[in-house]
Parts: sequence; structure tokens; C-alpha cells
Amino acid sequence: MSAIERSLDGKRILLIIGGGIAAYKSLDLIRRLRERGASVRPVLTAAGKQFVTALSVASLAGASVHEDLFSLTEEADMGHIELSRAADLIVVAPATADLLARAANGLANDLASTLLLATDKKVLMAPAMNLRMWLHPATCRNVMQLQSDGVLFAGPADGEMACGEFGPGRMVEPIDIIEAIESAIGSDTAILLPGAPLAGRKIVITSGPTHEPIDPVRYIANRSSGRQGHAIAKAAMRAGAKVVLISGPVSISDPAGVETIHVETAQEMLEAVRAHLPADIYVGAAAVADWRVENAGEQKIKKSPSGGPLLQFSENPDILAHVAKAGKSRPALVVGFAAETQNVIAYAQDKLGRKKCDLIVANDVSAEMGVMGGTQNSVHLVSALGVESWDRLDKEEVARRLVTVFADLLEKGGR
Ligand code: CTP
Repeated sequence: MSAIERSLDGKRILLIIGGGIAAYKSLDLIRRLRERGASVRPVLTAAGKQFVTALSVASLAGASVHEDLFSLTEEADMGHIELSRAADLIVVAPATADLLARAANGLANDLASTLLLATDKKVLMAPAMNLRMWLHPATCRNVMQLQSDGVLFAGPADGEMACGEFGPGRMVEPIDIIEAIESAIGSDTAILLPGAPLAGRKIVITSGPTHEPIDPVRYIANRSSGRQGHAIAKAAMRAGAKVVLISGPVSISDPAGVETIHVETAQEMLEAVRAHLPADIYVGAAAVADWRVENAGEQKIKKSPSGGPLLQFSENPDILAHVAKAGKSRPALVVGFAAETQNVIAYAQDKLGRKKCDLIVANDVSAEMGVMGGTQNSVHLVSALGVESWDRLDKEEVARRLVTVFADLLEKGGR
């Protein structure tokens, strides 16, 4: 496995750990930050201490933990004003409803809120709370206020919560917070893979799910997180390519330095892809909805005693097939993904022929594999040359290896 790139080399992160179940993920965040060359100065709130110990935080950070506003020893060592400014970025993870509320209102009644008020640096918050708390009008107001004050947000994600409910409010994964940090302050755009294997090439990548409206407030979606497609965009950029990332609605950040176009539906995605061709490489990593609702309501569909609405579906355009059959503007290398829950390789071989692409990256997305929405992937590369299966790897590593494969295939003339 290749070493992690030091994309945050020399960056100083002040990490405020609030009180929530997700606080344990902050330990992993510290590890990943340091792996990337950042130094971490941790602050633990009183509630945070209920979930993780100062000792484990300090051991992972390799630095002492700041806890008290009125600690004489800490003030003598480094006052809170200085602490809040001697950082390149302040990260709050998990950012609880209480921390958001206090920051939005400029309160300064403990060390964390005082640091947030005293800082002149960018602040990034990774919220984590019960979904009712996240959706409460008070929290919505606070988030809007913080956004208009320039605070950046990573997440929250949708998912099953510690309390058993399902919905938005879960803290995003540490790797997604890292992405957001890199976007905010990273120097990763400057890091090129040795030899910049895709220098001078243009690559168009689709990523994430599409949302197909049922009415103005409801839609049909799928579980794609966009992690794999976004990771490919980032790896391709580091390999020297000009990258256009066309993303469906996702909760992860745009990769730093990559031109990212946001779309919602399959039809919008197709239009955006068309507008950005020609390119040398096309990668269809998006989980495009196969159908859209033909009779979507122009107004919100109301409940009726005669039962639920009867939705009629029509098939969406196949973006990958469209690109692969684009005649003169067909990219030299067209890569599709195959998300399957059974017969993975056989179905991928069928897609390779049917969609006329050069390579299919096939993965098993059955629930027990945890690929959709997860941070790892185990893929099979299916092409006219045969099948190559890779071990289970981080999606970032899959992306880096894929980029090398793309460069090799282009060298050999695409197909
Ligand atoms: N794809 C696309 N446009 C669609 C559907 C799929 O571009 N309307 C692309 C995806 O981006 C992916 C590949 O086709 O690269 C395979 O997607 P997948 O959902 O696995 O296959 P389907 O075409 O939906 O085929 P099936 O329903 O038989 O699984």
C-alpha cells in the first residue's frame, strides 16, 4: 500500500471535541491529520470529556489537551487568545447543537466558545446530533447564522443514529472531515504524483447519486456517497489531469482544486457531461437513477383516502452508453462502474459490451459489503483483456491505482 500523502504538511489544527457519541471518531480524525503532516492542538469540552478521555486525546495528538478557560497553568503557557490564533484552522468535531447555538450567538462561557469568538481564523464544523435537533428551527437558524458569518460545514450525513432513529444528524466520517479541511486550507493541489502520469489530459468524472423528483419536496435517491468518484477526481488532479467532476447531491465536500459541477437529476447530469466533452477520459462513477417519475407532481402531493400516489416511471438516458457512442467526440478511454449485488463479474462483462466502454470497475454493493456509503471498496477491473481483482482497499487507494491504470491504457491507445 502506498504511503499517505502529506497533504496537510505543517498545518496547525485546533480541534475542539464536543460532547457526543461521535467524539470517538475524533480520535481517528487526529490520527489521520497527523498522518498527513498536520499538528493537532486539542480542546475538550466538559461534555466531550464524558465521551473520550483527555489521556487518549493527548496520546494521539502528541500534545496536551486544553480544557479550562480559567486554568492558570494553561494561561501562563498559552493564553486563550493566542491559542485561538496560533492555528491555520479551527475544527469543531463533533459540533453539538449546544456548541452551534453558543457560537451562533457569540457566547463565551467556556474555553471552546471563547476560542471560537476570539479567533481570526477559518472555522470548520462537523455537526453531530439527533435528527430532530438538527431539523429544529432553532438549529436551522443557528446554522444559517454561522454560514453567513463564514463558518464552513462538513455534513452532517444521513444514517442510522446512536439513538436508533434514521435521518440527517450523523457526523460525517473522519476521512470526509479531512477532505473538508484540505479544501479549506490544504496544499494538496500542489502535490503531484511522480511523473504526473495524466499531465495534459482532460478527464470528466461523474459521482454520487442522482435525485429524481416525485414532487417539489420528495425525491427518489440511492445510497451512493460519491466517495469513490470524488477520490478519483482528486487522484486524477494530483496525476496532473484537468479534471471536471460532475456530482449528484452528496454530503462530502468538493475536492480542493477540482472544478466541480453540481447537478440533481440524471438528465441534468447528461447535459453537464455533454457540455464538458470532448475529453481524453470519461469515468462514470455516478449511481445514476435508472428511472425518473413521469408524473411528478408540480405541487406537493397530498395524502388521499383512496391510497398512495401511483407513480409512473420512464427510463433515464444512459449517460455512459451515450458517451461511449458519441462518435467523434468519444473520449479515448471510457470507464464505467458496475454496482451489483450478485453475479458481479458476469454482469460487468455484459455491461462492458452493451455500453461499449473500455473498462468496467465492478463492485459488490450488497448490504453486507458496506461499499455504498462506506470508505472501502473491493473492485474487479473488467476489460477486453480479462479480469483483474484487487484486495479490499480504501477508496482513496483504489482511486490512485485506477489513475495509474487509466494512464497505462491511454498510453496503449485507449481500448
Ligand atoms: N449509468 C449511466 N446512466 C444511467 C445508468 C447507469 O451512465 N442511466 C452508468 C453508471 O454511471 C455506471 C454504469 O452505467 O458507470 C453502470 O451502472 P449500473 O447502475 O451498475 O448499471 P445499469 O445501467 O443501471 O444496469 P442494470 O440496471 O442492468 O444494473
